[in-house]
Amino acid sequence: MDIDFSYFFTRRRLLQAAAGVASTTLLTARASELDERELKAAHGRAGLAGPDAPWTTVWAYDGTVPGPTLRVQQGRPLRITVENGLDEDTTTHWHGIRLPNAMDGVPGLTQKPIKPGENFVYEFTPPDAGTFWYHPHADSLVQLGRGLAGALIVEEAEPIVVDRDLLWLLQDWRLTDDKQLAPRFGSAMDAAMSGRVGNVVTVNGTVPVDQLVKAGERVRLRLVNACLARMVALRFEGHRPVIVAIDGQPCDPHEPEDGRLMLAPAMRIDIVLDMQGDPGSRHAVTDDFYDGLAYTLTTLAYDSASPLRAHPLDAPLGLPRNPLPQPDLASAERQEIVLQGGMMGGGKLAGVGGMMGMATPGMNGGAAWAINGMSMTGDGHAGMAPQFTLKRGTTCHLTMRNETAWWHPMHVHGFSLLVLARNGSPVPNRQWQDTVLLAPKDTIECAFVADNPGDWMLHCHVADHQMAGLMTVFRVT
Ligand code: C2O
Ligand code: CU
Ligand code: CU
Repeated sequence: MDIDFSYFFTRRRLLQAAAGVASTTLLTARASELDERELKAAHGRAGLAGPDAPWTTVWAYDGTVPGPTLRVQQGRPLRITVENGLDEDTTTHWHGIRLPNAMDGVPGLTQKPIKPGENFVYEFTPPDAGTFWYHPHADSLVQLGRGLAGALIVEEAEPIVVDRDLLWLLQDWRLTDDKQLAPRFGSAMDAAMSGRVGNVVTVNGTVPVDQLVKAGERVRLRLVNACLARMVALRFEGHRPVIVAIDGQPCDPHEPEDGRLMLAPAMRIDIVLDMQGDPGSRHAVTDDFYDGLAYTLTTLAYDSASPLRAHPLDAPLGLPRNPLPQPDLASAERQEIVLQGGMMGGGKLAGVGGMMGMATPGMNGGAAWAINGMSMTGDGHAGMAPQFTLKRGTTCHLTMRNETAWWHPMHVHGFSLLVLARNGSPVPNRQWQDTVLLAPKDTIECAFVADNPGDWMLHCHVADHQMAGLMTVFRVT
């Protein structure tokens, strides 16, 4: 399912570089033009379970699961018209993109929902290059869970040199024996525990087939976890992945600590893989996040051709940094959010049921979670006072404390967070992330400059947790 236009693209750049031909004029000319796209959300079907299995009824962007990969250029104005062909309201959220608040796609907060048959025109200029994604922010658990998600790749003007640029977008499905989506999204059990973890993981919309590779080639692999609730911890048997970006933001190239790539829902990791296996060899890519439930996600299958090159490519791996505003920690304003609720030992719910906020009784069994004692349920809406308000330009030092017994990938809209410390210890290599994973009882400190006015969501990206109260809003004025 990988469409390798990028192969030719990168090769062309390589050749240009080799010939000393500057492509800059070409890029600048194109950069000023408006890039126009269209997307339609509608009912469809997909061969999730493989070529010989029955089709699955899904909801899809442009009829494909995942939706089309949007490849756009950093700094080039973009207009995307989203049409709603579903029979319920939707919106599209551009996850991780720093954009004007009115383009953020949160119904009732930043825009009116897109009614069936109507459309909405999103316009923004992506300031950061990297791997991002898009998904609905209305009826999120159901719409994302039925397949509405796609990758949004913002290309650097000067990318690193690789032979191929590949994408693996992971989705997780709870399928019945006849390969249809199991009913009952949002059961109280899922909501209060680990969320709707499924039984089939797809890569680019199908149960994984082999990933064909060539000995000696260098691949940039963009990993996107678009699952509702499933965390993954990937190992590339016989290979040494180098992490070059997390959540779209470049980092110092490094190998993962214990050899595993941890991706919680909504997180992205870009890696560079030098294919050092022998021609004809096969190497499993496994996921062992859940104890005792390890499985092979896919296999790197080498073709039999002799290696592309004798030694790994000798080209730098560091990506150009994005123009993020640097926090001024000395003058920072401190804010704290505390994550509460969920199932505790002995099958008891931590008490948030009677708390104030916007819990909708009956929905997901009511609120199972809260932030600072407030449960905001659903997809985010107006009507709840912001958790805190920041003056534009202020550096915010945000502490997130997880008092629950569960994992939570906490996601902030409109900003990227510089992760400073975990459980009191400074993080050695500070990283920008829009989705920060908190293990049970973790405390994480981060910072960002509140340079973008508006009301912004801050929520757990396990969709069941979000719907059941693990969500809040803050304001920048
Ligand atoms: Cu990717 Cu509010 O979400
Ligand atoms: Cu987001
Ligand atoms: Cu959560």
